[in-house]
Amino acid sequence: MTWLLKTILQQTQITGTLVFTVFTAVLSSFQFGYDIGVINAPQEIIISHYRHVLGVPLDDRKATNNYAINRTDSLPSVTPPADLILTPWGEEETVTSVGVVTMLWSLSVSSFAVGGMVASFFGGWLGDKLGRIKALLVANSFSLIGALLMGFSKLGPSHVLIIAGRSISGVYCGLISGLVPMYIGEIAPTTLRGALGTLHQLAIVTGILISQIVGLDFILGSHDLWHILLGLSAVPALLQCLLLLFCPESPRYLYITLEEEVKAKKSLKRLRGSDDVTKDINDMKKEKEEASSEQKVSIIQLFTNSSYRQPIIVALMLHVAQQFSGVNGIFYYSTSIFQTAGISQPVYATIGVGAINLIFTAISVLLVEKAGRRSLFLIGMSGMFFCAIFMSVGLVLLDKFAWMSYVSMTAIFLFVSFFEIGPGPIPWFMVAEFFSQGPRPTALALAAFSNWFCNFIIALCFQYIADFCGPYVFFLFAGVVLAFTLFTFFKVPETKGKSFEEIAAEFRKKSSSAQRPKAAVEMEFLRSTETV
Ligand code: GLC
Repeated sequence: MTWLLKTILQQTQITGTLVFTVFTAVLSSFQFGYDIGVINAPQEIIISHYRHVLGVPLDDRKATNNYAINRTDSLPSVTPPADLILTPWGEEETVTSVGVVTMLWSLSVSSFAVGGMVASFFGGWLGDKLGRIKALLVANSFSLIGALLMGFSKLGPSHVLIIAGRSISGVYCGLISGLVPMYIGEIAPTTLRGALGTLHQLAIVTGILISQIVGLDFILGSHDLWHILLGLSAVPALLQCLLLLFCPESPRYLYITLEEEVKAKKSLKRLRGSDDVTKDINDMKKEKEEASSEQKVSIIQLFTNSSYRQPIIVALMLHVAQQFSGVNGIFYYSTSIFQTAGISQPVYATIGVGAINLIFTAISVLLVEKAGRRSLFLIGMSGMFFCAIFMSVGLVLLDKFAWMSYVSMTAIFLFVSFFEIGPGPIPWFMVAEFFSQGPRPTALALAAFSNWFCNFIIALCFQYIADFCGPYVFFLFAGVVLAFTLFTFFKVPETKGKSFEEIAAEFRKKSSSAQRPKAAVEMEFLRSTETV
């Protein structure tokens, strides 16, 4: 039995060191997910704490409902005096205090994405400068500082410490969103590269789920312990720092970047559990030749060179579509959304979202090599479109039919499931398939930046958009999702099982078919001028 297991593991090239190293690497992705989800459940409690710190006199219940997404419904139709509005309970409150607390909360959520946005440009650079292991260790110092600021936020001006802590944790997440997929891709045997690559997203969604569970009020999401909840990401950060000391450096970094063949071989032998690493060395040799034959490409060149223009536009659109679908609106604010939808235990519904999210990411890991990227992305986006419509219908009709709360809740669950089937994981690895060695690093950095930028916009504006649109908010996202679905249908090629040359040819085909009508018009014009 043990012999059989040993043979299978040897043939698939899964070794103890590989499993240990991948586990250590995705502790970063886990922290990323934790930081996304952690802000959700304790929203009410932290907002009421901000109010307490800032001296805004309202008890918790009122404070929360004032920020629920149907707030505009509750506002009186007659415009109140400039600096005064009525709370849903008819009490007076200054607009300034309402606005300031909303703004501080939105900033607490979104500052994370600001850090991520800035740092996403530097993950690859840091990895090349220091090596993958040291870069991850340096990145972890940001995670620890962020966690400490948030963990001790009760001791000082909590809103300032939380906003600062979240931006620094965001820096960590921005760095690792480049570093982790790169490190895993470099240590994985070719046959396992896709499967191990998707573990990054799987660890993200696990982090989201765990943050939602420990955020329950009887665990850490209470008035007394919420600061511990925010600071808890220090635990995986410390664990990762410790485990990284035992991980082998990336053989590709050692061989291709540092030209240290002996060290590269040593690292490979540990990862593969075998003394014969000739095949890997030969692969790396080829990669090295390719890399030295292709020039690095600048951001401007990506847009000016006609062979890169179409792929980079599609790459950016995939990431923009992923974020503007509004999915993080749900991950950041689902508890308040469920509350508005009339669910009596919103925190448990939020945990349900996390669990569904995890299950469908696992399904997508199994499907992606069979069904193809383009089709999964399209299925996911189309499903999200219908779910967004149902979400809004549920919210709009809630006053008339109480059971509509279940329609909204089911629609949210399905929305997240469709997201993880395709639009969640696919953009992260599909972009790498669009580009060859030369333009790939720049394209990946730009794509990650656009993802974080849109994440920031959603984190910052979702609450305002929700306040403005009331129960109609998801109709807006349905429109956006529809537009991106059409874009995908017409512009995104399938990349599954295709070589880089074949993918480039697909892009040429798509762009030439888009230009055909223009060319036809020009021909007609020429003909008409000839006849004159
Ligand atoms: C993707 C997105 C991230 C989102 C996560 C949810 O990784 O990039 O923003 O929070 O999916 O599962």
